[in-house]
Amino acid sequence: MTDPLSSPRRFCASPPLTGRITIPGDKSISHRALMLSALAVGTSRVTGLLEGHDVLATAAAMRAMGARIERTGEGAWEIAGVGVGSLLQPAGALDMGNSGTSTRLLMGLVASHPITVTFTGDASLSGRPMGRVIDPLSQMGADIVASPGGRLPLMVRGLAPAIPLAYRLPMASAQVKSAVLLAALNTAGITEVIEPVPTRDHSERMLQAFGAELSVDTDSDGARHIRILGEAELKPQTIVVPGDPSSAAFFLVAALLVPGSDVTILNVGLNPTRAGLIDILRQMGGDIALLGAREVGGEPVADLHVRHSALRGIEVDPAVAPSMIDEFPIFFVAAALAQGRTVTTGLDELRVKESDRLAVMAAGLEAIGARAEESADGLVIDGSGGEPLPGGALIAGHLDHRICMSFAIAGLVSKAPVEIDDMAPVATSFPNFEALLAGLQP
Ligand code: S3P
Repeated sequence: MTDPLSSPRRFCASPPLTGRITIPGDKSISHRALMLSALAVGTSRVTGLLEGHDVLATAAAMRAMGARIERTGEGAWEIAGVGVGSLLQPAGALDMGNSGTSTRLLMGLVASHPITVTFTGDASLSGRPMGRVIDPLSQMGADIVASPGGRLPLMVRGLAPAIPLAYRLPMASAQVKSAVLLAALNTAGITEVIEPVPTRDHSERMLQAFGAELSVDTDSDGARHIRILGEAELKPQTIVVPGDPSSAAFFLVAALLVPGSDVTILNVGLNPTRAGLIDILRQMGGDIALLGAREVGGEPVADLHVRHSALRGIEVDPAVAPSMIDEFPIFFVAAALAQGRTVTTGLDELRVKESDRLAVMAAGLEAIGARAEESADGLVIDGSGGEPLPGGALIAGHLDHRICMSFAIAGLVSKAPVEIDDMAPVATSFPNFEALLAGLQP
């Protein structure tokens, strides 16, 4: 039986995409802006906030724990914080929807407060591993009771004061790093996170901006040591959220693939820990110019001018993966249209995102007539050399926004339409995706 609330859509061969678009605010930065504002003493103002379901789940959770959060205009929000250590016991379970970032970061916050919180989520989120945050937060003293396999629903009973620790990340994960740093805010003494492979550093940047004492040193092995002093007092801020490079990625690839396209994407965040896709696409022959490089809200930003290009296959260095971890689904679509072979390895983390993105992308690409082989930790793709793909298949989105958007873009360069069973999950990160696409078509 089909879900009466699902939104099936068909995406067809597209004429050239032309024009200028502004993409919504960065999801990672939006979550952190709400959380830290809710912990500051006083009123913070945020503009450019992403108003997607994931971020709204964070807002609802912070409200349930005592913060006053109001929308004052489009993307404009005002947050009156409760102060570190003063989060309130929420009246009921916190529903995290589809959002792994909300869940893992908020588990960190709760872990060092004297409250008990139950976290629930949708089918996708309930299948994702939480053991990676349960381990360090338990070492800090939180009592966590999870569903089998360390999954949601789970309950966190915080400990205040919590126990500071030095924690070496066993996987490249900004969410695990951030969970520990947020737990450390209400933990006396110095907590250290050691990050052998750098991941997005928005938490570090924003914690410093809010006045936390946080230092970052890189050792002789290239590992980053992040030290934060607990019992911090955060000062309210005015935050401007830049556009999300992970959302820009869909239009960046669309403009490169659809013949005749010429698109400018305005105000895209280009933090080096997020900008890997641009480097790789340029190495493949993509015509991407960065215009007006500047700084917005402590993050590097530029406008991207993108023109249709013939792409060449590439072997992607796995060291680049963390800086484009959310962009692999759409990157695989780019590779499917390139000339020659693209090889990716070291992408085990893609199996524990909103869906198993290696399996789902390999199956979907094959269904629309691309040549993609799944390996244990990557995909090998033999591109069409710019020829449109056959298309003509129904793709299951698996409640994964980035799978849905990737195959929507694939439809623009396919002979027969590509149908997505349900585009509703796109509202988690990019509510106006289809409207922006329509605006670039004649
Ligand atoms: C995020 C970190 C990444 C990323 C996710 C957002 C964050 O997850 O995939 O979309 O905001 O910290 P991991 O930490 O699991 O790599």
